[in-house]
Amino acid sequence: MQKLSKEQVLKIMERYGNAPQQLLAILLDIQEESGNNCVEKQWAELASEVLKIPLSKIYDVLTFYAMFNLEPQSEYIIEICRSSPCFFNRAQDVINWFEKATGIKMGESSADGIFSLAYTNCVGACDIGPVAVIGDDVFGNLTEEKVTAIVKHCRDRNKRELSSLCQN
Ligand code: FES
Repeated sequence: MQKLSKEQVLKIMERYGNAPQQLLAILLDIQEESGNNCVEKQWAELASEVLKIPLSKIYDVLTFYAMFNLEPQSEYIIEICRSSPCFFNRAQDVINWFEKATGIKMGESSADGIFSLAYTNCVGACDIGPVAVIGDDVFGNLTEEKVTAIVKHCRDRNKRELSSLCQN
């Protein structure tokens, strides 16, 4: 994914009418379209200037919500649930499959910036466990074939195919 340009960030803010009360939505879009899963300092400063919100207030929001990152992250952070229901339902197999498919270990990020592998706790989808989460998408009933397909679609940046594997 390409990095954001100043014009793109200005467009995101225009989409919301440059309204200061839309700050949260604007910051979320900036992060989503950033290509490195974070809100860079230059875009926080631009938002401060355009929305006429003090930079300190913008950082209050960015540091309050856990979903925001201030440093570049991998494009796809794959979180594998290890709470008891998933753990006792082959979570270790799922971990092995993701490690094999991505070529990295849990807690690591790939050198190309595409993948990170992390643990998460129960996301309330125990009935379709074992489960992995990428952003807002929950992937359940994981098999080795499905894990291989998820990793392939991430690598190909094929969001549509990736979403088709979600929630089943
Ligand atoms: S234990 Fe994994 S989703 Fe609930």
